[in-house]
Order: sequence, then structure tokens, then C-alpha cells
Amino acid sequence: MNAEPAKKVFIKTYGCQMNVYDSQRMNDVLDTLGYGATQSPQDADLIILNTCHIREKAAEKVYSEIGRLRPLKQARIDAGKQAVIAVAGCVAQAEGKEIIRRAPAVDLVFGPQTYHRLPQLIQSITADGSLKRKKIVETDFPAEDKFEALENDKTGKHLNRGVSAFVTVQEGCDKFCSFCVVPFTRGAEFSRPVAQIRAETQELAAAGVREITLLGQNVNAYSGAGENGENYSLGRLLEDLSDIDGIERLRFTTSHPRDMDDELIAAIASNDKVMPYLHLPVQAGSDSILKSMNRQHTAEHYINLVGKIRSARPDIALSGDFIVGFPGETDADFEDTLALVREVTYAQAYSFKYSVRPGTKAADMATQVPEEVKSERLARLQALLNEQQMQFNQTFLDREFDLLLERPGRQEGQLVGRSPYLQSVHIDGNGHKIGDIVRVCVNSVGPNSLSAHIIEG
Ligand code: SAH
Ligand code: SF4
Ligand code: F3S
Repeated sequence: MNAEPAKKVFIKTYGCQMNVYDSQRMNDVLDTLGYGATQSPQDADLIILNTCHIREKAAEKVYSEIGRLRPLKQARIDAGKQAVIAVAGCVAQAEGKEIIRRAPAVDLVFGPQTYHRLPQLIQSITADGSLKRKKIVETDFPAEDKFEALENDKTGKHLNRGVSAFVTVQEGCDKFCSFCVVPFTRGAEFSRPVAQIRAETQELAAAGVREITLLGQNVNAYSGAGENGENYSLGRLLEDLSDIDGIERLRFTTSHPRDMDDELIAAIASNDKVMPYLHLPVQAGSDSILKSMNRQHTAEHYINLVGKIRSARPDIALSGDFIVGFPGETDADFEDTLALVREVTYAQAYSFKYSVRPGTKAADMATQVPEEVKSERLARLQALLNEQQMQFNQTFLDREFDLLLERPGRQEGQLVGRSPYLQSVHIDGNGHKIGDIVRVCVNSVGPNSLSAHIIEG
């Protein structure tokens, strides 16, 4: 048996799947420095909050969490123990040293493009052994390849990925939607080279992973260097990865309507490993709002695109993101959003009240929508989306599909997996194990999950 790691790290992750991936990579790297992962912050020598800045509430959560951690840190210091509090992620990038001014308990602030420097940062912060230390703020956008450096540091480790894992293939955004902080917090679009992604996927497959979700803020803007020097699109990358032994399922998120090219649609249509689920945010259904959001597409463009994808892959499950109460949104504009949703029909979707983000164009727009109007519109939109989700699930009663078993359920013997369409499905495990792909038939459907039984033979 391995000895208990000398030091422990607790990482709390907020925000999107890319943050989940980043936290896993941090865990991998820190493991090589002797920091084992812990779920209890009071046992941690190092606490990292991997933060999200997308909406005001997300950013505020971080400060409340630091407030809760402060006494815990003091208690450890009083007991003569190490207790470093670090803030990573998009709040770190957006607010930098302001975080330390507002929350002096924080020792280290480091942005998403500096994660490969984590070993040096940790070493320099803990070097003098003193518990009262200098503060470090690291929010550069360095020129070196972060992923390459992480790869070298982590000696091939991929801890605790289970059967379904994320791989970031593209990071950053050049689109500058007028409401969004991502281009500021994640920087310019960057695509990892194909060989690097392939190597990571092979390592994950060897560690038992059966499903990979390729991540990018604009994943379908992926344009990475292939081994032969030419650039690969996301469609071609999916084709390339689909021959890796052990990987049975490929997914990708998030796609932008402007970057949905024919090669990607062909991969969705004809590659058995590419799952029939597409997250394709539209944000709004009114052309004047879409223009003011700088989305670079109209409602008609989006609806036609969905038509094209559906004729290529009729069973595709569509998902989306919506913002209600964007500055200047009238009742008629909002009705256009409802009309678009009725026309497209979604299997599942996320919807949000517009949240003012400092530094973005929309923050300075004069016609902000009152909070109660936003709440009322959000409730109406969510009622419609929930109804569509339920209707989508109802079409699955008595249907058969392959289920990838991912985790134990709440009840004894129960296992939970994902359908090809990303629904959670509960079954009686019946001698099967996590990682198996089993043929099931659906017995009952709910708004958020399905129940099924294994088809024998
Ligand atoms: N890259 C993705 C989305 C990234 S952010 C895309 O292009 O669609 C995830 C979602 O958060 C967005 O799709 C949007 O619906 C929502 N969002 C972003 N900024 C927001 C803001 N200021 N207020 C409310 N919701 C916002
Ligand atoms: Fe944000 Fe728009 Fe870029 Fe998506 S495409 S990350 S919403 S700026
Ligand atoms: Fe949030 Fe940053 Fe992701 S702002 S949604 S953690 S890219």
C-alpha cells in the first residue's frame, strides 16, 4: 500500500466543464508534488477555489466561500499547520489583485493560462516555511504552450477520471458576444495540436475511460495542427479519435452556430462513436437582440442550420443556452425567443437572466431590463423548455438503446448511465459493472431521468 501523501489539496470547482477539466489537471500536477486530494478543506495544506465569472452570482459565491474558509485557515495556522488559500479560474483572471484586497486571507491568485506554472508558484509560496507569507498574483497570458507543459509535468497521470472524461481541445474565444466575459478571462482562441489530444485520449483509454467529451469555449471553431502539417477541423478530429481502442463514445461542447461546418455535420451523421447530442446555444430569438448581442447570426440562420443537422441526423438531441432580459429586450423580442424554442424544440436547455458583467459592451447599454421582468420571462421560458424536455423523454418509453454505465445509483444494486442522448438512465445492475455498455429498454420516464431494464441475450 502507498503511504498517505505528505500534503493534501482541496479543490472546489465552479462554472463550466472546462473548469472541471482544469481542476483535474491541477490535481494530476499537484499529485506529482506530493499533494494528495482531499474532500475536507480543514485537512488541506492547500485550498484552491477554481472560480467562474460568467454571472454576478457565480463571482460572489467565491467571496462567501473565502469568508467560510478564513476561520479554518486561522485554526490550522494556530495549530502550526500549512494553509494556503489560492483562487484560480475566471474570477482570478478578471479581478487579479483586487481579490487579495477584498479577501486578505487569499495567498495566491492565478489565472487559467498559468496552470502549468502551479508547481513553481506553490514552491515559491511555501519555500520559506513561514506561515505568514507574501502574496502572489499571476494573471499573464504566457506565450508557452500550457498543455504541453502540463503534459511534461504530470508524467502521464490521469487520476480518478472514471469512465467518462473531459479533454480540452480548444480554449478561449474571439467572438466577443457583448454580454460575455469569456474572451477576457480565457483569452484568444487556441487549438491544441492533434497529436497531443490523441496521446491524452490514448492515456485515458488505457486508464479505463470509455467516453471522451472534447471541450472548448467554441469547440467547433477547433482548428488544430495535424501531424502532416495541415489543419484539422473538429469533424476531422472526431474522425481521427474514433479509431482509438477502448473509446466507444465521443461528445463535444460547446458549439457556436457560426462554426457548424459540413465536416462536423458529416461526423455527427455517419460516425457511430459520435453521440447524437448537440449543445448549440442561440441565446435569443429576436434578430435585433442577436445583433446587439453580437452573435453574428440571425434566428433564421439558426433555424435553417438546425434543419440541416436534423436531416443529416434525424434523432439528434438538441440542447441550448438562452439569456432573457438582455438590455433593450422588449416583450415582442422575448416572444420571438419563445417562438424560436417552439419551432426548434429542445431535448434539454439552460436559461439565465442577463447579468451585467463589468468590462463587457452590454454593461454600458442604457436600456437595462428590470429584475422582475427578467424573472417573469425566465419563468415562462423555463416552463416551455421543461415541457419540451418532458416531451422528449416521453418519446423514449419502450425504446431500446446502448447505455454506458457510469456510477452506482442511490439504491442497492442500482447503476446509473447515460443514453446516447445524454439522459441519465437508472437500471438494476444485474451483475454488470461500471464501464460496461449494455442494451436496455426504457420502462418509465421522468422529467430529468429514465428507468430501464437490461435486454437479456
Ligand atoms: N461559449 C459558449 C457559452 C459560454 S458561457 C457559447 O458561445 O455559447 C455559457 C452560457 O452562459 C452562455 O451560453 C450564456 O447563455 C450564458 N451567459 C454568458 N454571459 C452571460 C451573462 N452576462 N448573463 C447571463 N448569462 C450569460
Ligand atoms: Fe462568450 Fe460568445 Fe464566446 Fe460563447 S461565443 S464564449 S457566449 S463570447
Ligand atoms: Fe465560468 Fe470561465 Fe467557464 S467564466 S463558464 S469558468 S470559462
